[in-house]
Amino acid sequence: MKNIITLGIETSCDETSAAIVVNGRKVLSNIINSQIDIHTIYGGVVPEIASRCHVEVINQVVKEALKQANVTYNDIDVVCATYGPGLVGALLVGLSYAKSLSYAIQKPLVGVNHIEGHIAANYLTYEELKPPFLCLIISGGHTHLVKVNDYTKFEIIGKTKDDAIGEAYDKVARVVGLGYPGGPKIDKLAYEGTPNINLPKSNVEGLNFSFSGIKTAVINLNHNKPDINKADLCASFEKVTTEMLLENIIKAIDETQIKNIVLAGGVAANSYIRREFEKFAQDKKVKIFFPEMKLCTDNAAMIASAGYYNYVEGKIASLNLNAVPNLKIGGN
Ligand code: KG4
Ligand code: ZN
Repeated sequence: MKNIITLGIETSCDETSAAIVVNGRKVLSNIINSQIDIHTIYGGVVPEIASRCHVEVINQVVKEALKQANVTYNDIDVVCATYGPGLVGALLVGLSYAKSLSYAIQKPLVGVNHIEGHIAANYLTYEELKPPFLCLIISGGHTHLVKVNDYTKFEIIGKTKDDAIGEAYDKVARVVGLGYPGGPKIDKLAYEGTPNINLPKSNVEGLNFSFSGIKTAVINLNHNKPDINKADLCASFEKVTTEMLLENIIKAIDETQIKNIVLAGGVAANSYIRREFEKFAQDKKVKIFFPEMKLCTDNAAMIASAGYYNYVEGKIASLNLNAVPNLKIGGN
């Protein structure tokens, strides 16, 4: 069978990325231009600046992806772009670019849901991974527990009632003075601490999550006891939030009897979470999968992979496709 080469384009937040992937599994290139240095000055992503930065570099990023993969425009079979969820102005840059390219080279356009892209990052890391599996998506914008029934069939079985876990990481990092983006900084500082501070676990029904309670508890503690050991606070925050994730995973395994557990999203790069999930997998005899580090945070290779699976299912978009900032997983 002929190989299908997909070009992926990702501009939903503060990374401009383009990638070339073969048959949804093999990455030939994955160029990521991060704007983190610019947004750090403001303590978070400034949407207007993000859009402008995407416009400035997108052409170069796509050209570099083609060059590194050693392919030409003629070799591309499908043009895939993230159309949501994300910042509307940022999404529009990548999507408009993809539409124009699709028209110019006369190749089909495929719209990709960013969260479904995070799940697909695992197909690039594990050649043998196939649905069904349970996927825990933990990122800056999302915390979802999803039953992945097939490559393009998703069932949300749990989600956060308030903050995404990454949002809580970023907020905690800011209040303890670590700056933006907070996740990797908490990850590092927690190594110097002991998880000896009592923090509350929220009680939510079913397989849902809530992180605003623990976030507020950390903010209050830090405010009321300015000399509290920040490393202990970070270690305790990591420990309790990881327990919250694992408790729901245990319930989900019981309910579904699915024993392949997949992590996805930026927070899946956290070394404590990775270690605890690995221990859990050994104890409970389940299999755990994490995307390789570079594929945890936003990138276009995961979009090119998810786009491939949409394409083979016949999910081709028209050139009228618009950005959908609050797009839900499964398209609804
Ligand atoms: O998936 P992602 O790049 O963007 C979204 O789609 O949201 O995730 C970004 C989030 C940020 O909240 C960042 O702080 C967090 O992932 N993150 C981490 C780590 N690396 C990135 N959180 C904890 N530990 C890390 N090592
Ligand atoms: Zn993301």
